[in-house]
Amino acid sequence: IEDCQKLLTAEIKTFPDWPEKGVNFKDVQSILYKPELALITSHYLQELLPKQDVDFLFNKILCFDARGFLFGFDLAKASKTPMILARKPGKLPGEIITQTFEKEYGLDEIQVQKSLINPGDKVLIHDDLLATGGTAGAAAEIILKCGAEIAGFNFIMDLSFLPGRKVLQQYVDDSKIKALLTF
Ligand code: PRP
Repeated sequence: IEDCQKLLTAEIKTFPDWPEKGVNFKDVQSILYKPELALITSHYLQELLPKQDVDFLFNKILCFDARGFLFGFDLAKASKTPMILARKPGKLPGEIITQTFEKEYGLDEIQVQKSLINPGDKVLIHDDLLATGGTAGAAAEIILKCGAEIAGFNFIMDLSFLPGRKVLQQYVDDSKIKALLTF
């Protein structure tokens, strides 16, 4: 895994001061552009999933619009777990739950179809990147509003100089916040 981490860290392109000054944007596009990198990313993200054979640890995976969908779908298929799309406002039909949150660059909203998360569910959250924790924290709030449990978090990248991990520690133990790469 260390070799893979070194390789990915070297390959992921950083765009300084984008989308605004002070933000160093880490672009998952760098992984997608090289299929061999996408394959190892997918493989090692799966390794970070809670080990289902030991216990019943998660039964649904919630993934974020838009870059959380890319590898979230791989995780859902590999673990044979239903995938739920958390989407930007105005994209989903039916009864929805909305959560407003603050992000690295401004206010945003995330929406989920209400019927997909029920009491008793253990929902794992996946996204490409953990920065301020605003997005993943909003997902956690939605899961709690539905009366379900947060099984843990799974990211490709954790920007450890930002408070994301701290924010998520109010929802789960630190051992359940997994990231393939830490910057
Ligand atoms: C980025 C990233 C995460 C979020 C992390 O998404 O893909 O979803 O920011 O930041 P946070 O921890 O500060 O909330 P972005 O809003 O750029 O959306 P996109 O994936 O649709 O491009």
